Amino acid sequence: MSFYRRLPGRTAALALLTWLVVALVLHLRAERQLSTHHRASIDPKTSNAENAYREDAGNSSRRTAVVVAKTASENATWLDDYFPQWEKNIYSVGDRKAKLKKIPKNKGRESMVYLSYIIDNYDRLPDNVLFLHPNRYQWHNDDPDYDGVPMLRHFQMPYLEQEGYVNIRCAWSLGCPDEIKPLVEEGEHRDQVHAGGDYKKAFQVLFPGVDVPTYVGVSCCAQFAATKEKIREREKSDYQRYRRWLLETDLEDSISGRIMEYSWHMIFGKDPVHCPLVQVCYCKVFGLCNLQCEDQGSCRDRYTLPLFATLPEGWPYIDWDQEDRERAGPED
Ligand SMILES: *[C@@H]1O[C@H](CO)[C@@H](O)[C@H](O)[C@H]1NC(C)=O
Ligand SMILES: *[C@@H]1O[C@H](CO)[C@@H](O)[C@H](O)[C@H]1NC(C)=O
Repeated sequence: MSFYRRLPGRTAALALLTWLVVALVLHLRAERQLSTHHRASIDPKTSNAENAYREDAGNSSRRTAVVVAKTASENATWLDDYFPQWEKNIYSVGDRKAKLKKIPKNKGRESMVYLSYIIDNYDRLPDNVLFLHPNRYQWHNDDPDYDGVPMLRHFQMPYLEQEGYVNIRCAWSLGCPDEIKPLVEEGEHRDQVHAGGDYKKAFQVLFPGVDVPTYVGVSCCAQFAATKEKIREREKSDYQRYRRWLLETDLEDSISGRIMEYSWHMIFGKDPVHCPLVQVCYCKVFGLCNLQCEDQGSCRDRYTLPLFATLPEGWPYIDWDQEDRERAGPED
């Protein structure tokens, strides 16, 4: 009697145990697949590209870093506040006490920092790199309030990933369509900082064997982005050559910095004149596709070249009218 009762019981228990083991194995396998698949769409930092394209700059699944040249009086903490998802590379310029990354020599303005970052990180670059100036409000930021926050929030990372290099500015003044005329301006020295007179000689060192262009144009001010793939289309030795030129040149920083400002787009594979129509540019670079543009170089309510290079202390809460106007014309 007991035998007949125990046999089915033991078989049932065995069957149950087998079933449990099989179920557990299947469950673990399914979970593993699910977690690798699923993470991408759940994690806000790695949501799909379509979402990222619509609004936010920091939403791509690729690693994004910023590279910033900061002097003692400038403040880049807003980047931490508004873009915590980006890796920060803040370099100290002309401030030996700052506990920040250092450059070999304070020469050539922000370009020494940008080049040093590329050279030092060439083999372990993040996917996207944004090269920026430190302050949140800067006269050349392409925004009605010159505010870097909305400008960078609008920045279309998928477009960068498609293009490899994108200038973070669309307005044509200053820089487009032909800021520099290397051949006709050779040797010329104007009062206002302008690199045309020294450009041709520099170009021949920076880009040996390349014909000196008749016109060079790009929207100003040396804030741009590049992907690691685009950066690595050039050998590291190219970047070392640019930096050697910068370290050795006798030109003033304002001139050598400006020569680099008007070279980055060519370093990253664009034509000497890289001035997309503003309407197209705002749509692709910033996702602003319904602007009313009066001419090829400016759109209504987007960007007005300010009268002065320095925004008033306290901007945007304090306007120019409340400040004295003893300032120089726009330069960076
Ligand atoms: C990603 O973009 C979506 C909208 O497309 C936005 O709601 C979300 O806050 C963004 N996430 C991050 C981390 O910026
Ligand atoms: C930098 O700016 C932030 C606001 O974005 C402010 O809280 C902070 O005190 C500033 N730091 C310096 C050293 O001025």
